[in-house]
Formats: sequence, structure tokens, C-alpha cells
Amino acid sequence: MRFDQRHLLGIEPLRPDEITTILDLSDQYVDFNRRRDKHANALAGLTQINMFFENSTRTQASFEIAGKRLGADVMNMAMQASSIKKGETLIDTAMTLNAMHPDLLVVRHPHSGAVDLLAQKVNCAVLNAGDGRHEHPTQALLDALTIRRDKGRIHRLNIAICGDIAHSRVARSNILLLHKMENRIRLVGPPTLIPSGIDAFGVEVYDNMEEGLKDVDVVMMLRLQKERMDGGFIPSEREYYHRYGLDAEKLSHAKEDAIVMHPGPMNRGVEIDGTLADDINRSVIQDQVEMGVAVRMAAMDLLARNLRARPSEVMV
Ligand code: NCD
Repeated sequence: MRFDQRHLLGIEPLRPDEITTILDLSDQYVDFNRRRDKHANALAGLTQINMFFENSTRTQASFEIAGKRLGADVMNMAMQASSIKKGETLIDTAMTLNAMHPDLLVVRHPHSGAVDLLAQKVNCAVLNAGDGRHEHPTQALLDALTIRRDKGRIHRLNIAICGDIAHSRVARSNILLLHKMENRIRLVGPPTLIPSGIDAFGVEVYDNMEEGLKDVDVVMMLRLQKERMDGGFIPSEREYYHRYGLDAEKLSHAKEDAIVMHPGPMNRGVEIDGTLADDINRSVIQDQVEMGVAVRMAAMDLLARNLRARPSEVMV
């Protein structure tokens, strides 16, 4: 088991064996979370602060549950959307918190790169819970865990990531992870929502769902991220659903045992058919949420081990 990171800022800095280490430990935490008694002490004595400068339901809740189940003192800072300012303000906040000696800082921020910047200013371990359209590493890890548990492996699979790739940190972190683990990645969506130069990531691009989904093992849907769009990227939601919304007909082009994923929150009837999303024979969307808690426990546990291994003077 090797994990040499001080922070979890993205998938980009991780080695494949470090990804495997997180997934292996996460498997243990999946079993642990299914027990009646869910108290452990891997984070006992440590202080975890969750700073979410953007709205979140499942990510914030699962980081909080993960920390509490491992015995950390967990605090959620209420960051008002209206008080978000770039640069100085973020650093000032970080310095203020740093003076309170937290051990784990979980940060979501609307600006790409903001979490990396913050990590340079504090002494504790920083976990990126999503920064702009840059990275969302725990989402990619929980997706990988979900796939590995269903397919028995996380390499040499055909995986389609569909929809609003351009605005998605989930897509970016998933592409990085799935590429590192040697999968075949297809991106499917309207050309307006596929970032230019994406071919450099070793992906195949399709603008047609039927062709893009042909014989894939995994179909990963993305939310249309209207909050990050500053113009007309699609003609209408109705038209988008018709061409790119996942329904049983489009899914029939994938492998018979292909699984359907979505990071949430879903727009039913826009990117995915509601009945398909609820079909427990095809959809693993609820499994993704369950895996999310386990992955965040594993990530914080590994970071805490590295934190404890460092001489304490560094922390003063
Ligand atoms: C994603 C996010 O915030 O990037 N959601 C999540 O963390 N579960 C995807 C999204 O907002 O569409």
C-alpha cells in the first residue's frame, strides 16, 4: 500500500498504484459502512473543516459523514455565495483557518485552481471537493470504485462520458483517472459542449449517441451545467434530450450489461430519462452515492497517516 501525497488536489498528480491503494482501502470502508456500529478512530484527535463556496448536497454530506465515522471533529463553515471573492479574500480566509490548526481542509470553490492556491498557504492536508471546471478527484475515485465493483476491474473497459464535457470537472477528473488506468474513453456530446484540443487526452469524440455508445461497458452521463454557461450552447432542452438524453433506446446500443452512471444532481428529462435513472438493473447512481462516503473515508485516512508521519514541528 503506497500513497505519498500530502494533499488530494486532483487526479493529475496521482500514480496508478496510489489510485489502487485508495480503491482497495475504500472497499474495506464499504463493508465497514454497512455495519450497524460505524465508529472508527482513524481521524481521532484531528479537526476537519469543510469549506464549500459553492452549493453541494452529496459531496458535502458525504465528507461530513466520512469524517464523523472516522472520529474527526468536523466543522462545516457556512460560506455565503454572496461573499465569494477571488484572490485576497480566499487567502485571508485560509490564513484565518490555518491559525486554528485544522488537520484536514475540504474545499469546494467556483474558480479553477483556487484549491491548489489555498493548499500552498496552509499547513494541513487539503482535499479538493471540486474547483471550477478543473478537477473533482473524489468523484472520479468513487466512480472508479463503482465501476471496479460492478465490472471486476478498472482497466481495459470501454467507457462513454456523455453530455456537457466542456463545463465539467467530473469529466476532466474521470478522463485523467480512466486514462491512467488504461481504459478506452469516448466522449459523446454536441460539438459546442466538447472542449477543443481534448483529443490530446487520448479520447475518441462522437457527436452521436447511437455510435458513441456502441458496445460500451459504462455510460457516464453528465448534468447540463447551466450555471457555467454564458451563452447558447444548445438549441433547447427538448432538442438536447431528443439527441443526447439517455433513454432505453439509446442505451440498447451499449453492451447488454452496460451500467448507467450520473454524478448527480440529475436533470430528469434533460440528460437522462427518469425511469432509466431509477432502474436498479441498469443504473448504479445510488451505488455511486454509497461509494462516495467510502472513498472519502479512505482518502482522509491515507492523508491523515501521512500527516501523522511528519514531524510535529512542521505543524506549529
Ligand atoms: C458534480 C459537481 O459538483 O461537480 N456534482 C457532484 O459533486 N456530485 C457535478 C454537477 O454539479 O453536475
